[in-house]
Amino acid sequence: MGSSANTETNGTGPSPSSSNQKPPAMNGGDLSHPPPLALDQAIVMSDPSKKRKMVMLPLEVGTRVMCRWRDGKHHPVKVIERRRIHKGGPNDYEYYVHYTEFNRRLDEWTHLDQLDLDSVECAVDEKVEEKVTSLKMTRHQKRKIDETHVEGHEELDAASLREHEEFTKVKNIATIELGKYEIETWYFSPFPPEYNDCVKLFFCEFCLNFMKRKEQLQRHMRKCDLKHPPGDEIYRSGTLSMFEVDGKKNKVYAQNLCYLAKLFLDHKTLYYDVDLFLFYVLCECDDRGCHMVGYFSKEKHSEEAYNLACILTLPPYQRKGYGKFLIAFSYELSKKEGKVGTPERPLSDLGLLSYRGYWTRVLLDILKKHKGNISIKELSDMTAIKAEDILSTLQSLELIQYRKGQHVICADPKVLDRHLKAAGRGGLDVDVSKLIWTPYKDQS
Ligand code: ACO
Ligand code: ZN
Repeated sequence: MGSSANTETNGTGPSPSSSNQKPPAMNGGDLSHPPPLALDQAIVMSDPSKKRKMVMLPLEVGTRVMCRWRDGKHHPVKVIERRRIHKGGPNDYEYYVHYTEFNRRLDEWTHLDQLDLDSVECAVDEKVEEKVTSLKMTRHQKRKIDETHVEGHEELDAASLREHEEFTKVKNIATIELGKYEIETWYFSPFPPEYNDCVKLFFCEFCLNFMKRKEQLQRHMRKCDLKHPPGDEIYRSGTLSMFEVDGKKNKVYAQNLCYLAKLFLDHKTLYYDVDLFLFYVLCECDDRGCHMVGYFSKEKHSEEAYNLACILTLPPYQRKGYGKFLIAFSYELSKKEGKVGTPERPLSDLGLLSYRGYWTRVLLDILKKHKGNISIKELSDMTAIKAEDILSTLQSLELIQYRKGQHVICADPKVLDRHLKAAGRGGLDVDVSKLIWTPYKDQS
C-alpha cells in the first residue's frame, strides 16, 4: 500500500509546535549555524567606488536586504534561514528569504547573486522582536493543547506562536505530484519524520497516500482500487461531484488530506485527530475517475457556529470559480441544517477575498430584487450567512447608513450594480436539487 500518514497510534500525534523534530533541509542542505564571525568569514566590499560598505558573508539570519524576484525587480526581504551550498566554498551559502511585502507562500531559497549587498541593513535584534510580540499577547490567548485537527493561530500564546513560526519557517516539500499535475507547494506541512529528506512527494490522487518515489506510486496505482474519494457521493451535476468523507470512518484518507492541504494553508496548525470532522471533497469526474479539485472540512458539532473549518482549491484549479462553489455549498448545508454559519477564523488573504466576493454577490443580488424593507436578520435567514458577516460586508461597501436614529441599508440600484461588478464573477452555481444530504447524526 506504500507509505501513508497513518503512523500515529494515539490519535493526537505530534503537532508542529509540540514536536522537537527540526524542519528538514531541502536537498539535504546544512542548516546548522556557523559561529557569528569566523576567521575565514568573507568580507565583501560592496560598491567600492561609492560607499565602501562592508558586508560580512555569509549573511546572518535576520538580515534585511533587497532581493531580485521573479518579476526581475528588487523587493525587500528578511533572511529566514541559510544553508551551505553542497561542494561550495566555506562562504557559499543559499538564503531562504521572506519577501516582507508578500505572503509567506512566496518565501524561497535564493542565491547570493539575487541579493543586492549594497542594501544590506543590520541584522534584526530577535530579542527585541520577541519582547514586542509578548507584550501584544493577552492572558486569554492561551493555547488549547488538546485541540484537534486544524486550528487558527489566535489560540496560540506568544511562546507557542514563536515556536510554531520557527518550526514552519522553511518549506520542507517543494513540489508534489498529484494526478496529472506537478504542483509547487506554498507552506510547510508536518509530514512524518521519515519524509524529512524529501523535496518532492508523489500522491495517489484517489486515496491520497503519498510516496517518496515515482516508481512506488506507479506500483501503488496498479493495486489501488479507489477511483474517487471514500464516503458518500452527496452531489452530482454534470462532471462535478461532491463526496462526504467522515474522518472517523476514513481516518487515513482524512489525515492524508490534511497533510496535503497544509502545504497550501499557512495560518492553520495540523493535528491528527480527524474523527471530529467531515470532509467535503469536490471532484471533476471523467472516465478515468473523480479527480480532486478542492475540499472543505466541517466540524461535526461546532459550538461557535462554524460551518467550515478549512477550505482549499488545489492551485491548478484556482481562479475558476471552484472556491465560490465550495463556499456556496457550505451555506447550502447550513440551510438544510436550519442554522446560520460562518467560516472558522482566521481567514487567509485569499480566503477573505473569496468570502467577501461571495457575501457581496449573494447579498446584493437579494437587495437588487427585493422590494420594500429588509432587515439583517431576514437576510441572514435567507442566506444562512451569520448576521455579523452580513453587517461587516455591507459596512465595508458603505451600504449602511444611520438615519433618524436607526441603521438602514441603502440599496441604490446604481451603487449595487457598481459593487456587484467589482465583486467579480459569480463562480459555479450549486444546483440544490442535485444535493442529496441529511445533516450529520452521531450514531454512537
Ligand atoms: N488574487 C486575487 N484575487 C483572488 C485570488 C488571487 N490569487 N484568488 C482568489 N481571488 C478572489 C477573486 O475575487 C476571486 O473571484 P474572481 O476570480 O471572480 O475575481 C475570488 O477570490 C474567488 O475565486 P474562486 O475561483 O471562486 O476561488 P478559488 O477556487 O481560487 O479558491 C481559495 C479560493 C479556496 C481561497 C483558494 O485561493 C485557496 O485554496 N487558497 C489556499 C488556501 C486558503 O487560503 N484557504 C482559505 C483559508 S481560510 C479558511 O480555511 C477558513
Ligand atoms: Zn491509492
